[in-house]
Amino acid sequence: MSRLDLSSDDLLQTTRAVRRRLDLDRPVERDVLERCLALAVQAPTGRNRQRWDFVLVTDDAVRAGLAELYRLGLTRPREHIARTGVDRTAGEALAHQRMSISAQHLFDNLHRVPVLLVPCLQVADRRETASNVGQANAWGSILPAVWSFMLAARTFGIGTAWTTPHLHYEREAADLLGIPYERTIQAALIPVAYTVGTDFRPGPRVDVGAVTHWNHW
Ligand SMILES: Cc1cc2nc3c(=O)[nH]c(=O)nc-3n(C[C@H](O)[C@H](O)[C@H](O)COP(=O)(O)O)c2cc1C
Repeated sequence: MSRLDLSSDDLLQTTRAVRRRLDLDRPVERDVLERCLALAVQAPTGRNRQRWDFVLVTDDAVRAGLAELYRLGLTRPREHIARTGVDRTAGEALAHQRMSISAQHLFDNLHRVPVLLVPCLQVADRRETASNVGQANAWGSILPAVWSFMLAARTFGIGTAWTTPHLHYEREAADLLGIPYERTIQAALIPVAYTVGTDFRPGPRVDVGAVTHWNHW
């Protein structure tokens, strides 16, 4: 298992959503994935309950099925998601255009990505996420682990991207993967593959000063 020599600042700045540079032809070894998961489960959870499960999909037919649900989620979403309008500068518009091209590549090739990870959270009842506090506790108890997985993967030269459209068809995905739907919520669908080249740059982000508030909003 060879690791990239990245400083912690580099790791945090260059773990990007990788789509076009996923190596679709190189398998990812099981022991590397297990190492990333072992690091991921050091993440915090509410009351240290660790109600997580991680489904790693490598089977051709199952990957194809999940990819189809992802495409359906994008082209025929079941729920309307309100989006905040954004005024983009020319530079931001260009970055957005690049991301759209990259997202289209993932849309076209998701079934070919060697590993698809579906992180899940066990719940007593799916209504646990009905309130904001319920949501904060639920998502706050799975998303840090997933991000740790993505950071750990990057240290092995593996790229990932957060995606959620398949959740429009979460029940169908649960049936496909044998997930007990009533007691388990899926958090994301993460494509996982070695990257083509390992150099990545920090991403375009808003000025942190503009979103930092000291003592008062
Ligand atoms: C909640 C969430 C949902 C996302 N959904 C998708 C998606 O459906 N498809 C996709 O290609 N990328 C998706 N992304 C990745 C974002 O587009 C990406 O993280 C963002 O543009 C920043 O990219 P960068 O880190 O490479 O700069 C999602 C990210 C998050 C956090």
